[in-house]
Amino acid sequence: MPVSTILKTNRSSTPVPPRLRAEVEKILITDAELAQRIKILARGIERDFRGREMVVVSLLNGTVLFLADLIRHLNLPLRLDFIGVSSYGAGTESGDLVFTKELRLDVRGRDVLLVDDILDTGKTLSRVLPKLRALKPRRIKTCVLLDKPSRRVAKVKPDYVGFTIPDLFVIGYGLDFAERYRNLPFVGVLHPHIYKEVLEHAAKK
Ligand code: PRP
Repeated sequence: MPVSTILKTNRSSTPVPPRLRAEVEKILITDAELAQRIKILARGIERDFRGREMVVVSLLNGTVLFLADLIRHLNLPLRLDFIGVSSYGAGTESGDLVFTKELRLDVRGRDVLLVDDILDTGKTLSRVLPKLRALKPRRIKTCVLLDKPSRRVAKVKPDYVGFTIPDLFVIGYGLDFAERYRNLPFVGVLHPHIYKEVLEHAAKK
């Protein structure tokens, strides 16, 4: 079982910057908490890979910030590649998956670390993992920053988890809503009125 930091809905929160207060309800994970946890994750990964070269396969686009912080703490040889995969549409529900970029590095016989920002329904990893396995790597370990187990529909067990979170609509630190908020340095909770407006607008079309 992955060891992760389990977060409760009502944890005490750092104030949201004034510019974002109309859109972000609260900060769920601060930049300092992210940095501290990611260093610990990296140490665990290093221990398991025991200096073997790995291929880090990161899923676009949500992993950008997490990936950059994670790999700079991985003190072992690695090569990096990306798979582009996205659930169709701008809503809050994971829908149909579209592959926008295929892997280019050869992972046959290699140790692979698959990185994603959030494990939600599990549909993305359950589509990506068989595709990767078909390329015959030596082994695949999965690492997600956030795990929302209450939403799972596909059976996926990550090897490394940063934080286990409640069923909240989270944005920031790479995670988006309609492609916005990825640049926020913290993980925040989106005000429901923001996504309700968008969903209602989409339903009327
Ligand atoms: C998000 C996230 C994960 C996936 C998790 O990606 O980055 O890859 O959803 O959801 P699931 O477990 O329900 O499949 P998204 O498709 O929104 O694309 P993005 O990474 O470009 O934001």
